[in-house]
Amino acid sequence: MINKNQPIGIFDSGIGGLTVAKAVIDALPDEDIIYFGDTARVPYGIKSEETVRAYALEITKFLLNKGVKMILIACNTVSASAKEEIIEAAGDIPVLDVITAGTRTAVGIPEHKNIGVIGTLGTVNSRAYVESIHAFDSTINVEQQACPMLVPLAEEGWIDNEVAIQTLHHYLDHFDDTGIQTLILGCTHYPLFKETIPHILKDKKVKIVDSAESIARSAKLKLTELDLLNTKGGKFHCYVSDRPQRFHELAERFLGKGLTTVDVVSLDK
Ligand code: DGL
Repeated sequence: MINKNQPIGIFDSGIGGLTVAKAVIDALPDEDIIYFGDTARVPYGIKSEETVRAYALEITKFLLNKGVKMILIACNTVSASAKEEIIEAAGDIPVLDVITAGTRTAVGIPEHKNIGVIGTLGTVNSRAYVESIHAFDSTINVEQQACPMLVPLAEEGWIDNEVAIQTLHHYLDHFDDTGIQTLILGCTHYPLFKETIPHILKDKKVKIVDSAESIARSAKLKLTELDLLNTKGGKFHCYVSDRPQRFHELAERFLGKGLTTVDVVSLDK
């Protein structure tokens, strides 16, 4: 039997998923959260689907052993390649993912029939956003662009300097003549460029969808529906698989506040 006081589990390939944790803390400040970042094996975006799936299932097991009441897949690459397997492994525990959540927000504007998606190579090649959008409305045109360099830039904190602007142009100029009305930020790291991206896009009216905010809203709705909202929590516990010091140093950039403790765990034990 799931109870309200159990924590929410959030996981990602590394630090980027803290953008999801931040959105969840903002939407659900009274929830306890357990975050796992697979810093030993990041990045996932350039790995095969099989490898990402195997890693994701190990993390799912870890979170289930911690007694979570819900799992949020913060990583777009994992959502693209392992969602079904995670849902199956989690049994009765509800699982939400950023791709489904981001899609729901994007298709929520019926007159927007041209949607752009940016993500890692893994996410873009999987076409998971395309399929997810078409499951709602097959007449929507989806334009994708992989932006692999944005992950290291975000971690470096280069979000609006000359290098960032040039890199963003390199990737986003692709959308200039596509007529996109909405752009989904399909990677954990991209919310850091949210302020810069509208200056880069030719059409300044393009609606930006932050899938971190979308999944936070979906989590709140789901917990309300299941009568599982916590009113007494608010603790945030972080686990990583390697380099806690680096995680600690970068956390504020993604979470909007500093972390107290970061524990290292090895998943194969
Ligand atoms: N977390 C990944 C994602 O959202 C980006 C970083 C990586 O490639 O592991 O797709």
